[in-house]
Amino acid sequence: MRIDILTLFPEMFTSFLAGSLLGAARDNGLIDIRLTNIRDFADGVHRQVDDRPFGGGPGMLLMPGPVVDCVESVQQSDPVAGQLLMLTPSGRRLDQQMVESLATKSRIVLLCGRYEGFDERVRETLQPIEISIGDYILSGGEVAAMVVVDAVARLVPGVLGHEESAQQDSFSGIDRLIEGPQYTRPREFRGLCVPDVLLSGDHGKIAQWRHEQAVRATHRRVTTHS
Ligand code: ADE
Repeated sequence: MRIDILTLFPEMFTSFLAGSLLGAARDNGLIDIRLTNIRDFADGVHRQVDDRPFGGGPGMLLMPGPVVDCVESVQQSDPVAGQLLMLTPSGRRLDQQMVESLATKSRIVLLCGRYEGFDERVRETLQPIEISIGDYILSGGEVAAMVVVDAVARLVPGVLGHEESAQQDSFSGIDRLIEGPQYTRPREFRGLCVPDVLLSGDHGKIAQWRHEQAVRATHRRVTTHS
């Protein structure tokens, strides 16, 4: 899978992309992630990418020229155009189903905004799919793009190493349940014991217990957080 990230702050991605899971996936050729600086497509000595909104108002907007030129250039750098995704708080809220759908694409292009947003003609010209990672305002799309890359990359075959585990994640699998509690050593910690069933060696019973716990955790989340 190829992932292009278009941003004014490519250096924000350096340690994120070198991290263990993504770093290894890139080294193994499973994911090809490329960063492009939108400012490289700006004109003039100042390489200006933003300007004040017509009609007044706070902040600065990203100008359409550098953004559209950047996206078109990146798209043309490969015979297959990628699915263009714009990170913006007004987009559709990211969930695991969207992540699964994105993970099936051979190429995605992530466009990160900064300042107060994009000139509307960026949307009109490029017609991206707009994605939000939640109902709050970040100072730019970069952190949101990292969220998308992280969630998508771990679903690309071979990236996790053990394919089962993505299927068992919360929100995954046919019933999309939250994962229930899990335990590792020691068997007892400050008087709190690992449930006997997990030590029983009876895989049928363990699977049934885990399913019951997942149903409970999902129900609890629905009733306490909504
Ligand atoms: N840019 C700023 N806030 C954002 C959000 N919540 N989701 C995606 N992109 C953003």
